[in-house]
Amino acid sequence: MGSNNEIKVTIIGTGSYLPEKVLTNRDLERIVDTSDEWIVTRTGIKERRISSPEQAASDLGTEAAKNALENAKISPEELDAIIVATITPDMFFPSTGCIIQNNLGAKKAFALDLNAACSGFIYALAVAYSFLKAKLCSKILVVASEVLSKITDWQDRNTCVLLGDGAGAAVLSATTEKDPPKQILSIFLASQGEYGDLLNMPAGGSRIPASVESVKNRLHFLKMKGKEVFRIAVISMLEAARRGLEMCNTSLDKLKLLIPHQANIRIINAIGERLGLSSEQVYVNVDRYGNMSAATVAVALDEVTKSNKLNRGDIVELVAFGAGFTSGSCVIQW
Ligand code: COA
Repeated sequence: MGSNNEIKVTIIGTGSYLPEKVLTNRDLERIVDTSDEWIVTRTGIKERRISSPEQAASDLGTEAAKNALENAKISPEELDAIIVATITPDMFFPSTGCIIQNNLGAKKAFALDLNAACSGFIYALAVAYSFLKAKLCSKILVVASEVLSKITDWQDRNTCVLLGDGAGAAVLSATTEKDPPKQILSIFLASQGEYGDLLNMPAGGSRIPASVESVKNRLHFLKMKGKEVFRIAVISMLEAARRGLEMCNTSLDKLKLLIPHQANIRIINAIGERLGLSSEQVYVNVDRYGNMSAATVAVALDEVTKSNKLNRGDIVELVAFGAGFTSGSCVIQW
């Protein structure tokens, strides 16, 4: 593929951090009118992690980042950039990226945040990939960190049973090696802004600034029309998975493992079935963490990497869907 000095982008380390506190479905039965049975059959979720009152996105993200740097065996000073995907930043500004840069002591790196909701990790990989391909950088840290528990309406059983907190990270590096391991072969991104109203947090921005009224009306929480989102999530992730493989001329029968966004086991199963994949070919951790937005795919990638179950040359595809709507996929050759 290409000339000898062509830049290739590889993942040289991954990391994750999950808050200690586990919130089970039984715990939720005491908070809203729900049942373990309803949650498990409708979503596949058994438990999720919840951050402490003091923890913000940068705290989870910093831990995941340290873990990824250690795994990549590089120091923070070697980083040229830090890209943080989050919909739950510490605050509007400064960016969570700058806060993590300071926490790590990554003095040489520039830092930025990116909001593509649950597709955020794949969008951030795409931005990092482009910087590396364009020779603007040679090592980039991508972090996906979410504390959804802080924007969850704990009185709304339609949404509070679905969400969780966590962070994942990956270190990307440019190389001219001919056939490097964990090489990104393609990235596909798409957005469908016409569906913005189906999944959003209405207040706190410039459209509805924070006010006594906005707080009273519970507008600072995540709102979702679950049924409509479900349908479009399946269609969009199927399209993204197919397009990502097409972009690197790889057929579905070569796919070893699909790592989909973890929102609902029924969405994951629908995608796996329609792509003709066996259950072993589709990664699942939604039972343990629920939907952690941008962090889901990042944490899953770290778990897959550290399980050492994949072999050199295996084809792996990440695929995600989220508010916006956004969707995306990323094909990696192990
Ligand atoms: N416990 C018990 N009952 C609940 C409940 C809960 N936690 N949440 C909702 N219900 C009720 C509803 O009120 C509804 O009752 P009603 O018929 O009396 O109004 C009933 O369960 C069925 O709701 P329905 O909307 O048909 O359920 P569903 O099968 O669509 O599942 C979701 C609901 C939210 C789990 C599902 O739509 C979903 O996962 N959507 C996509 C979410 C997603 O992927 N979001 C993120 C995208 S990045």
